[in-house]
Amino acid sequence: MCQKPYTLELPMLGDSSIGYLSIVDFKDMLPFEPLRIYWTYFTPESIVRGRHAHHKTEQILLAVSGIILVNIETIDGELYTYKLDKPNMGVYIPPLTWHTMQYSHAAVQLIIASTSYDESDYIRDYTVFETIKKKHA
Ligand code: TYD
Repeated sequence: MCQKPYTLELPMLGDSSIGYLSIVDFKDMLPFEPLRIYWTYFTPESIVRGRHAHHKTEQILLAVSGIILVNIETIDGELYTYKLDKPNMGVYIPPLTWHTMQYSHAAVQLIIASTSYDESDYIRDYTVFETIKKKHA
């Protein structure tokens, strides 16, 4: 058993005449206590980012602009694909989840993370992920 990814639909206040506002309230809307926010932008469409898992970090990934294709492999070997194409939709990425992301032109990706940056929390080598996966089976 492992934690599974899932999508979160955030509130979308407003209407097309005035525009919209979405919210992530840290008090009660997340499955973890956030410690960090970061964002990526100007990513060429040909680039695949991510290509790693985390030992402990949990994350919510949002496309606040543009479209992001997220491919996920859980430690149980389950595969998921999410197309984030609405600024009020996020995906929860549990620990020990291999993930890659591809971006439409000018997409902006916002990530809310449960930990401060720590390179030792990364699993960047897919063969290491595979070894952990086998032990987990
Ligand atoms: P990385 O997490 O590998 O980016 P992506 O998943 O989008 O491909 O991070 C890219 C680089 O930035 C890497 O050298 C680590 C560094 N980095 C920090 O210094 N602090 C951070 O909070 C993050 C997320 C990355």
